[in-house]
Amino acid sequence: MKISTSSKKIESLKTECVIVPYQARRASSAYRSLNRVTDGFLERVVRQEKFTGCYNKTLTVHVPDTGSFKKVVVIGTGKQDDLSSFKFITLARTCAKHVIAMDPERVLYCFDDLKIKNVTKSRMLRSLALELHNACYQYTETLSKKPPAKSLNECLLHTSESNEQTRRALTEADAIRHGMNLARNLGNLPGNVCTPHRLAQEARKLGRSSQKLKVRVLEESRLKQLNMGAFLAVSRGSYHPGKLICLEYRNAPARQAPIVLIGKGITFDTGGISIKPSATMDEMKFDMCGAACVLGTVAACIRLRLPLNLFGILACAENMPGGNAGKPGDVVTTMSGKTVEILNTDAEGRLVLCDALTYAGCYNPGYVIDIATLTGACVVALGKEASGLMSNHQELADQLIEAGKVSGDRSWQLPLWDEYREQLDSNFATLANIGGRWGGAITAASFLSHFTEDYKWAHLDIAGVAWHSGRAKGATGRPLPLLMEFLLKQAQR
Ligand code: BES
Ligand code: MN
Ligand code: ZN
Repeated sequence: MKISTSSKKIESLKTECVIVPYQARRASSAYRSLNRVTDGFLERVVRQEKFTGCYNKTLTVHVPDTGSFKKVVVIGTGKQDDLSSFKFITLARTCAKHVIAMDPERVLYCFDDLKIKNVTKSRMLRSLALELHNACYQYTETLSKKPPAKSLNECLLHTSESNEQTRRALTEADAIRHGMNLARNLGNLPGNVCTPHRLAQEARKLGRSSQKLKVRVLEESRLKQLNMGAFLAVSRGSYHPGKLICLEYRNAPARQAPIVLIGKGITFDTGGISIKPSATMDEMKFDMCGAACVLGTVAACIRLRLPLNLFGILACAENMPGGNAGKPGDVVTTMSGKTVEILNTDAEGRLVLCDALTYAGCYNPGYVIDIATLTGACVVALGKEASGLMSNHQELADQLIEAGKVSGDRSWQLPLWDEYREQLDSNFATLANIGGRWGGAITAASFLSHFTEDYKWAHLDIAGVAWHSGRAKGATGRPLPLLMEFLLKQAQR
C-alpha cells in the first residue's frame, strides 16, 4: 500500500472512501466540504443516527453516488480539547481497522483541521500512516497458502503541511513500520524455525544492508572464555547452541557514548528442569520478542540514518530440559564475578541478561536499556497495556515514560527500592535467581540491577505487551514505537 499526502481541495480528490473526524457542534471544514458534496446527505444521516461524536465512536455513511466517493466514515473525537497524542493514536488505529475491514482501493483521510495541543501536524500524519501500515501487517512465512492480496493500494492523507515536513513524517512511519514488521515476523515464527542460529542469520543479513552496521556473533566457546556462566547455564540444556549477537551501528563521532539496547532472545522457554505447564506453552516462542524488537529498532534507525552510536545485543538461547541442562540449586559464576544460585531454571531471562549487561559495560555506554519478556508477574501487575519500567536513573526513566505516551506505546514505572533486594539473598552464592512470591517483576529487575551498577540503565519488562493471545494471537512489535521515539529525540541533541 502506498501512502501519500495531498493539499488539493477535498472536493477534487476522488476516492472510494473518506475518513473524517467529528465533534458535535464544531464541524470541521473538511466535514463541511464533504457535506456540501453530498448535498447535505451526510449531515442528515449523522442527525438521524443521533451520532454525537463521542470519542472513538464511528459511523459509516453510504452516500448516494456523488462521483467523488461512496462511503464516509465519521469518527468521533470527543471534546477536542481533551485529545492527547495517545488518544489520537487510538483514533488512528480505529480508522485503520475500519479501512482494512472495508478494503477499498483508495481511501482519503481528512484530519488536517484537527488540533491537538502539543501535537504537530506532521506527528499526526506519522501516526495515521503508521497505524495504517500496522493494520495491514500479515504473517505469511509458514503458511502454505498466502492470504489473498488486499484491494487497498493507496491512502491519501489530506494536509496543508509543507512537502518537506510530510515527507519526513511518512519516511519515519515507513522506517518504524519496517522495523516493526521485522520484529513481528521473527516473533511469530515458531520455535523450530526461529532458533538462535536464525536470529544470527537475520542480524548478519541486516549487517549487509548498511556499511555503518557491524555484526558479530559470539558463539558458546567465546562465551566460555568470557566467563558467562549464567548465560551458558541456560543454553546448555538445548541442542541449539546459544549465541550473543552484537550489532554495532556507528553513525556519530566516536567520542559520543553509545546507547546499548539488550534484547532477551529465548527462542523457546520450556522452563527447563523447572518445567512449565503445557497449556499455552506454545506462547513461549514469543520469549525472544525483546531481541526481535532490538533488531527491528536497529533496522529502523539504519533506514532513517539516525546520527547515533547505537549498539544492540541479542542474548539468544533456547531454555530446554535436556540431559545436560542446568538444575535447581546449581551455582554458576557470571562474567561479573558474582555467583548465582539458580533456584528456578524458569527464571532464565535474567540469567542470559545479566551476562549481556556486564558485557555491555565494556562499550562505555551512555545508556543501557534492556527489553525482555521477563516475568508473568509484570502481566499480573500491569495487564497488557503497558511495559513495566524500572531504572537506576530517573532522568532516563522519565524520558522513556514520555516517549511511551507520545508514541502510544506506554510504559509504567515500578519501584526498584533496595528493600526488594533482600529477597534474592542466598546461602550459597552472591545472589539467588528468584525472590519470594510477591513483586516478581521487581525482584527480577532487582536481580538485573546487580549487574548495572556502572552505568545508567533502564529495564522494560514487555511480557504483557509483546504479543496478543487468543484469536488475535501474534507478536505486536512493541515496544519499538517507544524506543524509536526515544532514539529520535536522542538523535536531535
Ligand atoms: N518468559 C517467562 C515470563 C513470561 C511468562 C512472560 C508468561 C509472559 C507470560 C520467564 O522466563 C519466566 O518464566 N518467568 C517466571 C519467573 C519465575 C520463575 C520467578 C515467571 O514469570 O513465572
Ligand atoms: Mn522462563
Ligand atoms: Zn522466559
